[in-house]
Amino acid sequence: MQFDLFDEGQNEILGAKTYAEFKEALSKSGCARCALSESRTHIVVDRGNPEAKVLIVGEAPGETEDREGKAFVGRAGRLLDELMKEASFDTDRESLIVNVVKCRPPENRAPQPKEAASCAPFLKRQLELVRPRIILLLGATALKHLIPDKGDFSMQEEAGRFFEHADYPGVTLMVLYHPAFILRDPRKRPVMMEHIRRFKDYWDKMACVSPSSKGL
Ligand code: URA
Repeated sequence: MQFDLFDEGQNEILGAKTYAEFKEALSKSGCARCALSESRTHIVVDRGNPEAKVLIVGEAPGETEDREGKAFVGRAGRLLDELMKEASFDTDRESLIVNVVKCRPPENRAPQPKEAASCAPFLKRQLELVRPRIILLLGATALKHLIPDKGDFSMQEEAGRFFEHADYPGVTLMVLYHPAFILRDPRKRPVMMEHIRRFKDYWDKMACVSPSSKGL
């Protein structure tokens, strides 16, 4: 159940009619639905263009994101921008970047299932308001939480593959390696680049068929 009769703050966020209203309400909400609120500085809602039709989903804000209140502005985010730019894709203009959880987990650990579950209604509302045509899932955490019926998987098998899922009608999804993984193992950079080019070719073809589909 999304709405709580007794939680007016949450209802204002989830009932927002526009993305701008949603973002403002969530940023200022002082949300305390899970323990991550105790150590965070900022609620990190996103970065990029909410009109764009490519949604990129990461894991959780890191230290820089927590300080600045913007998604993917630290080392991993800069690498993501650099790789996307190599494929002539401007993340700020052509996509909206969000995370599974909106508050930084201590020591940058992966979000726990109950933290992701507490934050899930916010991600769901972002999806409803943005209505993306493509969702890029960055890394295993995004895949696990957005496609819970996936079960056990290996990133090597999943990354770079297009798929569809009944929970996201009309949307094409693709899993990419998380840029933090490429920072740890730069030998994987060419593979990730190949996957990004595959996404970009697909997106260019899709936009050719229906030029307004990019939402820009
Ligand atoms: N890693 C993520 O998954 N998200 C961010 O916003 C930053 C780093």
